[in-house]
Amino acid sequence: MAIRPLAMLVFALAVVESQTGRYVPPADPRAYDFPFTDHIPTTKELIENAGFRYDLHKVVTEDGHILSLHRLGRPGERRGIPVLFVNGFCFQSEGWMGLGRNTSIAFILSDLGYDVWLGDQRGTGRSIGHVKYSLDDYRTYQYSFHEMGIYDLPAFIDHILEATGHERLLYVGLSLGSGVFAVMEAERPAYRDKVIAAVFLGPAIHLTKWIKTSFFYYNILRVVDAMIEAQIQRKLWVLFANRPLISTAVHSCSFVPLNIYLSSCLTIVGLTLGPYTGNMNATSAGVQLASVITSTSVYVAKHLFQVLKKGEFTKYDYGSEEKNMMAYGTPTAPNYDLSQVTTPLLVMYGSVDNMASFNAVERSIADMVSSSVDSQLLPDFNHVDYLFGRQAPKRVYVPVVDFFDRMTGQGDFESNLIIPSKSKFKKVGKKGRSSA
Ligand SMILES: *[C@@H]1O[C@H](CO)[C@@H](O)[C@H](O)[C@H]1NC(C)=O
Ligand SMILES: *[C@@H]1O[C@H](CO)[C@@H](O)[C@H](O)[C@H]1NC(C)=O
Repeated sequence: MAIRPLAMLVFALAVVESQTGRYVPPADPRAYDFPFTDHIPTTKELIENAGFRYDLHKVVTEDGHILSLHRLGRPGERRGIPVLFVNGFCFQSEGWMGLGRNTSIAFILSDLGYDVWLGDQRGTGRSIGHVKYSLDDYRTYQYSFHEMGIYDLPAFIDHILEATGHERLLYVGLSLGSGVFAVMEAERPAYRDKVIAAVFLGPAIHLTKWIKTSFFYYNILRVVDAMIEAQIQRKLWVLFANRPLISTAVHSCSFVPLNIYLSSCLTIVGLTLGPYTGNMNATSAGVQLASVITSTSVYVAKHLFQVLKKGEFTKYDYGSEEKNMMAYGTPTAPNYDLSQVTTPLLVMYGSVDNMASFNAVERSIADMVSSSVDSQLLPDFNHVDYLFGRQAPKRVYVPVVDFFDRMTGQGDFESNLIIPSKSKFKKVGKKGRSSA
């Protein structure tokens, strides 16, 4: 891609000009508090509460699924290069605003002039629905995460590029949000040229293999696996279908250390996502997690479990040699070809992440041979600290802003020591930052 030499040159110049990036996390610890503790807020509420206009876009995929795409509106201001955020397995877009007004990645990038869009992939609470099939038709749920990669991301990208007039955008994916990006690049080469660069946070590509060495990890996953199979047999296609019930249960999880051994919910969260290391605020952790958790199709879960069991980033296994033969021309499901991922990446991963363990992530990085990868191992980060950890602004968002700025040649490196105020933003906009 033509951007790479250019972006590298820009990076080199930027480094010479200044060592300080445009985002500096606030010193006041109160700026890291999640502003909602009394109820579970929605994406719309989070965006409006932070002073942005909320724009909901409905996007229809090539295979007829109707998805929600949210934009942070900045009335009267020109907007810069679009950034698409997509969250992980059973997670929705609330998570990108999971800290305070000046410490959440969606707001930070918007303040710096990026045009922020949050995509809810198929199967999540606001993205269930099909143009042809009703909600009780099994065909509404016949997809794995493969279709998120080959249809949902292209639909989001095409919609954003058309709405903004830009030719390319930036991407941020957490967990499976990174996995489906890798699927898109492997399966739909035309989309590689529509992305300038991408950030993978705790990427779910290769995962920690499901073996008995970790007793708890193994057994917790066994319970979920049995639940998926039972649901499929009973034709209950939606995993975590009752979102109010699930989020209330998660909300009631206590992160107060005294209760640690009393809360089975915390145990499940801890054993799958990684231990609570004190990075999250114990008071607000329940409501933060509750805001982000949502539903998916049982087949997405089944596909993810195939990856865990096989220990490979594999395509969906249809369960019989004949069916796999029809779909793939081979009796077993092939692995995704990670050498087809070509977009420049920043990969951040945690040392105590149980799902995307550091050796699994390092294996994914090693397999993405065609992409230039910057990577950073974050000590004591679990699978959700990227969204909710109080260390996230300093340890994750500063490098993300720097990475995007240098990949796009943006930013006043000499003068942006604080988040620009509104008037500053306008000035920067007029100076010719690329905008819609
Ligand atoms: C966010 O930052 C701005 C400018 O630095 C400041 O005026 C405002 O009080 C901060 N808001 C919060 C909630 O910390
Ligand atoms: C945790 O968040 C609450 C409000 O949500 C705040 O009152 C408290 O000070 C925070 N605790 C720490 C240690 O930051």
